[in-house]
Amino acid sequence: MTRVAIIGCGTIANSAHGPSYQKNPNAQLAYCVDILPERAKALKERFGTEETVALTDYHDMLSDPSVEAVSVCVPNYLHAPISIDCLRAGKQVLCEKPASVSYALAEQMAKEAESLGRVLNIGVVNRFNGAVNEVKRRIESGELGEVYHVYCSFRAYRSIPGLGGPFTTKDMAGGGVLIDWGVHYLDLINYCIGAKRVLSVSGQTYSKLGSPMREYVYEDMWAGPPDFEGVYDVEEFVTGLIRTDKATISLNGAWAQNVPDDDSRFIEFLGTKAGIRLTYGGGFTISGAKDGKLFRQTPDYPKNDMFYDELDAFLACAKTGERIRSNASEVLITAQMMQALYDSSALGREIRL
Ligand SMILES: NC(=O)c1ccc[n+]([C@@H]2O[C@H](COP(=O)([O-])OP(=O)(O)OC[C@H]3O[C@@H](n4cnc5c(N)ncnc54)[C@H](O)[C@@H]3O)[C@@H](O)[C@H]2O)c1
Repeated sequence: MTRVAIIGCGTIANSAHGPSYQKNPNAQLAYCVDILPERAKALKERFGTEETVALTDYHDMLSDPSVEAVSVCVPNYLHAPISIDCLRAGKQVLCEKPASVSYALAEQMAKEAESLGRVLNIGVVNRFNGAVNEVKRRIESGELGEVYHVYCSFRAYRSIPGLGGPFTTKDMAGGGVLIDWGVHYLDLINYCIGAKRVLSVSGQTYSKLGSPMREYVYEDMWAGPPDFEGVYDVEEFVTGLIRTDKATISLNGAWAQNVPDDDSRFIEFLGTKAGIRLTYGGGFTISGAKDGKLFRQTPDYPKNDMFYDELDAFLACAKTGERIRSNASEVLITAQMMQALYDSSALGREIRL
C-alpha cells in the first residue's frame, strides 16, 4: 500500500488521478491539496476516505513521512517548484504534462530527481495507450520499413481554453496549443520512433484569433468561462519542422483556426514498406504495398484505461525506484523540441542543436 497525495484538485485530478488511485488496491489517498479549500474537500469526498486530509498548503503534507508518492496537478508554472519541493522532502513524484514551462526548468527538475535518487515521472499518458503501444511495436518489428517522416495534426476550430486564465497566460502556461496539446503528440511520436536526439528545428507560432479577447467567437469553452480582465499572450496556432536522429517530424496545431476541424487530430507515420495513420485517442490504419498489391487494414489493439495504467506504473516504480517509460529523463527530448520551436519562432530562423 502506498500513501499518496494529490496537489491541485482541478480537472485532471478529478478525471484521472482521483479515480485511478481510488480504484487501485495499492494506493491510499492520504491528502488532497488545493489553494481553494472547497476543491480539496470535494476531491477528498469523491475519491478519498474518512482519513483523507484536505489541505490548502502542500508544505503541511511534505512533513508527513508516511506519504511516499505525490501527483502534481497544478498549473504548468508551478510544476517545477512544487515537484522539486516534493522530491527534496523525500517523495516520489508524478508531475502532470508538460514537464515545465521551459526546457531549462524541465532539465533542472530531472537533474534534481537524479541527484536525490528519486522518481520523477511526467504525465505523458499516451505512453500507456494500447493503440500507441501497438503502433510502437509494429514500428520496432520493422513492419513499416524505415520510418522517414511523421506528420501530426492537432487542430480544432474554436477550442481556446479558459481565455484570459492560466492556460492563455504565458507566465503561467509557458505557451499555448503547442505546450498544452502538442506536448502529447510530440512525446507520443518520440516514444514510437525512439528519437534520442534533436538535430534542428524550425517553427512559427501565431496568436491571431484569441485577441482582442472580447472579439473571440466560440460555442463552448473548456476551462472557462473567459476572464476578460486576464491575459491572452500565447499562440493558438503552431507549425514546425523537426529533424531528429530518427525521422523528420512536421506539425500543425491549432486551438483555433478558421477551418472546421473534422478529422484533424491524427499522427501519420510514413515508412518505406507501410504507413500508419493513428487517430489521436483512437485506433489506426496501416496501408502500403505488399507482393505487388496495395493493402489497407484496421487492426485491433488492446483497449485500456491509460490513466489507470500510468498511475499504476507510477505506484510500482515509486516502490522500486525504477526508471520507466514516463521518467522525466525519457521525456526531456519533448521539452527540448518545444523550446526550440518557440525559440525558432521568436528568432525567425532555424535552430540547430
Ligand atoms: N495528462 C493530460 O491529458 C492532462 C489533461 C488536463 C490537464 N493536464 C495538466 O494538468 C495540470 C492541471 O490542469 P487542470 O486542467 O487540472 O487545471 P485546473 O485549473 O482545473 O486545476 C488546477 C488546480 O490547481 C490548484 N492550484 C493552483 N495553485 C496551487 C497551489 N499552489 N497549491 C495547490 N493547488 C494549487 C487550482 O486551484 C486548481 O484547482 C496542467 O499542467 C495541465 O497541463 C494534463
